[in-house]
Amino acid sequence: METKIKNKEQTTIEEIEAQKQYIEKVKEINKNKKLKYSILTLGCQLNENDSEKLSGMIEQMGYERTEDFKDADLAIFNTCCVRENAEDRLFGKLGELKKIKEERGTIIAIGGCMMQEKHITKKIHESYPYVDIIFGTHTLHKVPEDINRILENQKRVEDILDIDGKVYEGLPIKRESNLKASVTIMYGCNNFCSYCIVPYVRGRERSRHPKDILEEVKNLAQEGYKEITLLGQNVNSYLVSENWKETGKEYNGINSFATLLKEINKIEGIERIRFISPHPKDFTDDVIESIATCDKVCKLIHLPLQSGSSKMLKVMNRKYTKESYLELVEKMKKRIPNLTLSTDIIVGFAGETEEDFEDTLDVVRKVGFEQVYMFIYSIREGTPGSKMENQVPEEIKHERFDKLKELVESQIEENNKKYVGTIQKVLIEGLSKNNKDMKAGRTDSNKVVIVEGPDEIINKVMDVKIVSEHMWYLKGEIV
Ligand code: 5AD
Ligand code: SF4
Repeated sequence: METKIKNKEQTTIEEIEAQKQYIEKVKEINKNKKLKYSILTLGCQLNENDSEKLSGMIEQMGYERTEDFKDADLAIFNTCCVRENAEDRLFGKLGELKKIKEERGTIIAIGGCMMQEKHITKKIHESYPYVDIIFGTHTLHKVPEDINRILENQKRVEDILDIDGKVYEGLPIKRESNLKASVTIMYGCNNFCSYCIVPYVRGRERSRHPKDILEEVKNLAQEGYKEITLLGQNVNSYLVSENWKETGKEYNGINSFATLLKEINKIEGIERIRFISPHPKDFTDDVIESIATCDKVCKLIHLPLQSGSSKMLKVMNRKYTKESYLELVEKMKKRIPNLTLSTDIIVGFAGETEEDFEDTLDVVRKVGFEQVYMFIYSIREGTPGSKMENQVPEEIKHERFDKLKELVESQIEENNKKYVGTIQKVLIEGLSKNNKDMKAGRTDSNKVVIVEGPDEIINKVMDVKIVSEHMWYLKGEIV
C-alpha cells in the first residue's frame, strides 16, 4: 500500500488555499456594508512588511483603509516588543479604543511579536476583555479565519503558536508605496544576543526559497517598482543557516546571500537594492564582493555595532570584538569605493562602565557613520540580560545616550558638508513634505535631497548637484 506523505510546501499551499476561502466567506458577509479598517504598525520594517500582508488580506475581505481608528469597523495592531516604549503605546491606544468599540462595535485584533509573550497575553486577558482577536507572529496568515470566527459570533479568538512558523507564499499584499518595496527573504533569528527578545518571538531562522524571492522581485519590477529592500533579522545567514551548501542544494546558482544579491542585481527595471540587517560576524568576503560588483546594490551598508567595547560585546553574545569590527569596516572600505555605513547602538546594557561607553564613542569617531540608530537598553523579560544584576541606573543611561547623540549629530553635520558641490544620483520619490513646490528623493546613501523640477522626474533616478546642506536634508539642482 502506498502512503502519501505531504511535504512542508504542500501543507503550506493548502493552508493558504483554506485562508483564501475564508477571505471569500468574509467578503460575502461584508457585502454592501462599506466597512473600514485601520492598522497601527509598531516596530521594524519586517513588521511593516507583515502589515502590508495583513492589509492585502483585509482589503480582499471588503474593508477599506482609514487612517482614523474612530472610523474603523476593524482595528488591527501589529505589535513590537524589542523595547518597552512600544508596549506603552499599545496599551495607551487600546484604552482609547474601548469607547469606540462601545459606539460602533469595532472588531479589535492584536498581533505580532508582543503576542508571543505570555505575560502580555495574560495582561490582555485580565485587563482588556474587549479585544476580539489575538494572533502571533507564526499565525498572521490565519487572520481571515479569525475574523470569520468573530463574525460568526465566537466571543474571542486566540491563535498563537509557540513553535517555529513555516514560510507561507502567495498571500495578497497591499504595499504602502508604488516605488519602493520590501521583500522579506528570511524569518527568525538563531543568534540570541543577550539583550534581545527577537529569537524568542520570531523563532529560528527560515529562508524563503530563491525562486519565490526572484519571482516577487520580478513582479515588482514589472509593476514599476524601482527600489527593493531585502529584509531579515540576519540577512547574511540567508540559506547558509539551513546548510544548503552542505546538502548540495542550489537554485540557479543561488546558495547564499551573496549569490542571491547577484541574481537580484540582474533583474531589469530595479534600480536600487538595499538590505537590512546583516550581522557583522557573518559578513563574509563573498558578500563584500557582491556589494562591490553589483551596480544596483546601494553602497550604504547597515552594520549593527551595538557596543564598541569588546567586553560588552562578549556579554551581549555578539561574537565579534571592537578590533574585528573595525578590521571588517576597513576591509569593506578598501574593496567598496564610496562606501558609507550606518549602525545600531545600544547604550547602558548591563555592566557597561564609563570605559566601555568610551569604546563605543571611539568606534563612532573612527568609522564616521552616515547614520546611527541609538537605543537606550530596555530590559526584556525572558532574555539573559534581564537576569544580570549589574544593571546601569536609568539616569546614567540617559546621560550616555545624550553624549552619544551629540557626537553623532556633530559627525552628521560635518559629513553633510562633504556632499556640497558633489553630483549625486537621486531617486525622486515625490513632492517634498514641507514644500509642495519642491520634489524630494534619496541618494544611494539614503540622504534626503530636495530639488526643483517638473512632475515627470518623479520615480526617476536623476543626477543632482548638491548646493547646500541642512541637518536632515540636502538641497540640490538637477544637472
Ligand atoms: N533594548 C534596546 N535596544 C534594543 N535593540 C534590540 N533589543 C534591544 C533592547 N532590549 C536594538 C538593537 C537592534 C535594534 C533593532 O534594536 O540595536 O539592532
Ligand atoms: Fe536580536 Fe541579535 Fe537576532 Fe538581531 S541578531 S534579532 S539583535 S538576537
